[in-house]
Amino acid sequence: MSRNILLLPGDGIGPEIVAEAERVLARVNDRFSLGLNFEQALVGGAALDACDTPLPEDTLAKARQADAILLGAVGGPKWDALPMAKRPEKGLLGLRSSLELFANLRPAILYPQLASASSLKPDVVSGLDILIVRELTGGIYFGQPRGVRHLENGERQGYNTYAYTESEIRRIGRVAFEAARQRNGKLCSVDKANVLEVTVLWREVMEDLTREYPDVALSHMYVDNAAMQLVRAPKQFDVIVTGNMFGDILSDEAAMLTGSIGMLPSASLNSQKQGMYEPCHGSAPDIAGQGIANPLATILSAAMMLRYSLGEEEAANAIEAAVSQVLDQGLRTADILSEGTRKVSTREMGEAVLAAL
Ligand code: NAI
Ligand code: MG
Repeated sequence: MSRNILLLPGDGIGPEIVAEAERVLARVNDRFSLGLNFEQALVGGAALDACDTPLPEDTLAKARQADAILLGAVGGPKWDALPMAKRPEKGLLGLRSSLELFANLRPAILYPQLASASSLKPDVVSGLDILIVRELTGGIYFGQPRGVRHLENGERQGYNTYAYTESEIRRIGRVAFEAARQRNGKLCSVDKANVLEVTVLWREVMEDLTREYPDVALSHMYVDNAAMQLVRAPKQFDVIVTGNMFGDILSDEAAMLTGSIGMLPSASLNSQKQGMYEPCHGSAPDIAGQGIANPLATILSAAMMLRYSLGEEEAANAIEAAVSQVLDQGLRTADILSEGTRKVSTREMGEAVLAAL
């Protein structure tokens, strides 16, 4: 069996970290005879520079044919002045919506070796292992109408639309209930049902789903409280499900509990389990080209790819174990450096993971 993996390095540190993840994938490909074929394409600013569009036809065609996609990051100051429709981010949003990657899974796991890197006290975060399930192709990021309009009084008004259909809520709900069922049977749905009608419907549909999943204990929380609870007592959560914008913010907040955004992988899946995998962080223009970025979020994203899109649990576990091993060895990129550990470059970190494999 052969499977096509599309690599989209993108901008900034993207090419540096994807190169390390590719080497790791190539190694497990040999070791576990996975039959992976690799292709590469342009996206984001790199695509804008070469083809004047953040998502070229060729990239989209390759993405549709791929079994899974590994993306670095897009964007950077070079393209910041462009109008919204032409920005690098459009490449990413276009891929998400074209492939209907509606389910974004963002685990926040605190590695015991990095406990001191968390902004919270060790007893509050030790052993933290939560999963945020974020709806990714609807809500206010995609709702119509949107824009900036001129009012009669001469003022301009910016506006976006926050809308979800029942079916959009139900399909992300099912992903979250399934995940909760496979973990600890605990799901917290986050909304703003005291103010926003769209999330009153969200809450109703989530309640409905408990009939399909009687074994999962569902609770609800308002998003402002959830933001507080995540820093007060994050271990009360196991799986969190929420809409696109709340999920964007809460998952970055949860990321910080684990020490560094450089450690956090993510998966975005459609209903055929085709997926795009990427680190949670951006293109880090401040450190791009220096060879010091942490490649582990991307390497861990490759492990999620093997697990969720390719069904290769054993290879995924091997990568995760190798990452844990290099942390045990005290190797750290600059973002996770602490007393008594050894600073390594992006390439050296990749080498260490290969060696551990
Ligand atoms: P960022 O995540 O790129 O950087 C935030 C901070 O974290 C920076 O100090 C950076 O050096 C550090 N950092 C990020 N990844 C790291 C890694 N692997 N190793 C070590 N340190 C790391 O977010 P920022 O600065 O808000 O955005 C920079 C650019 O990235 C913008 O153009 C933004 O639009 C884009 N972006 C792209 C995303 C994507 O492609 N999925 C997501 C978020 C931002
Ligand atoms: Mg974000």
